[in-house]
Amino acid sequence: MNRVLGKVAIVTGGAMGIGKACALMLAREGAMVVVTDIDAASGGAVAGQIERENGKAIFVKHDVASESDWSVVMRDTLATFGRLDVLVNNAGIGTVGTIEEATLEAWRHLMSINCDGVFLGMRYAIAAMKASGGGSIVNLSSILGLVGDGVAAAYCSSKGAVRLMSKSAALHCAKSGYKIRVNSVHPGYIETPMVEHFLDLAAERRAQTLKDIEALHPLGHIGDASDVAYGVLYLSSDESKFVTGSELVIDGGYTAQ
Ligand SMILES: NC(=O)c1ccc[n+]([C@@H]2O[C@H](COP(=O)([O-])OP(=O)(O)OC[C@H]3O[C@@H](n4cnc5c(N)ncnc54)[C@H](O)[C@@H]3O)[C@@H](O)[C@H]2O)c1
Repeated sequence: MNRVLGKVAIVTGGAMGIGKACALMLAREGAMVVVTDIDAASGGAVAGQIERENGKAIFVKHDVASESDWSVVMRDTLATFGRLDVLVNNAGIGTVGTIEEATLEAWRHLMSINCDGVFLGMRYAIAAMKASGGGSIVNLSSILGLVGDGVAAAYCSSKGAVRLMSKSAALHCAKSGYKIRVNSVHPGYIETPMVEHFLDLAAERRAQTLKDIEALHPLGHIGDASDVAYGVLYLSSDESKFVTGSELVIDGGYTAQ
């Protein structure tokens, strides 16, 4: 209980999947949460659920690829809660395609969300956290930021970039004495709308594709969103005060082999 009591946290892509689980868990542990997403209906519902559970939350419509949207999110966060302690850069998209299949247009779209979004979020958060006396930034990378997958050329590239962007920012913040920690999280396959959509693409081979994916995880199944949210909660809390520039792998053993 109260592992992040009184902290102000922004969770991007908080309308569903891992982001929703993070927003709900941070709120249940005492944080005031700014839920952001391009999906206003679902994002607003998450903020509403937090309020119904006697937590504190607002929803801000937000495309993480847009710098002007980031300035609105920060303005609304500071106007409502007065400070920023935690940023969870969770919003991201996945595409399927080999290096030969990926188009430049699709590559740029994915990079604008998965990389520009994290880059902009860190810049805006660092400015606000410096004023609040410190904080924690948690960036969602992936197992595919650690190992390759031939049919996910753009996605692997973006998640590898998030991994090292996090370390560069962590070093800069530590050496500048900002008391801002930056870490990346690397989930294996997690049961969310993103993975549901991926399985739907397999059409009549859906059940077999799920079995094949489960078999890649030595624990024998894919994860659920709370498996990742517990890790994000730890990195958001002061329990991880000596942890920066690190990679928290939550993957059922996928990358251990
Ligand atoms: N699910 C997995 O297996 C898995 C594994 C490893 C890493 N991840 C990463 O975790 C994060 C969350 O994944 P998920 O599975 O919950 O995804 P999801 O698709 O289920 O949910 C993503 C959320 O982000 C929002 N979003 C999309 N584009 C946005 C934008 N431009 N601006 C703001 N919000 C936007 C969507 O509306 C949605 O609410 C992503 O960064 C993803 O790459 C997921």
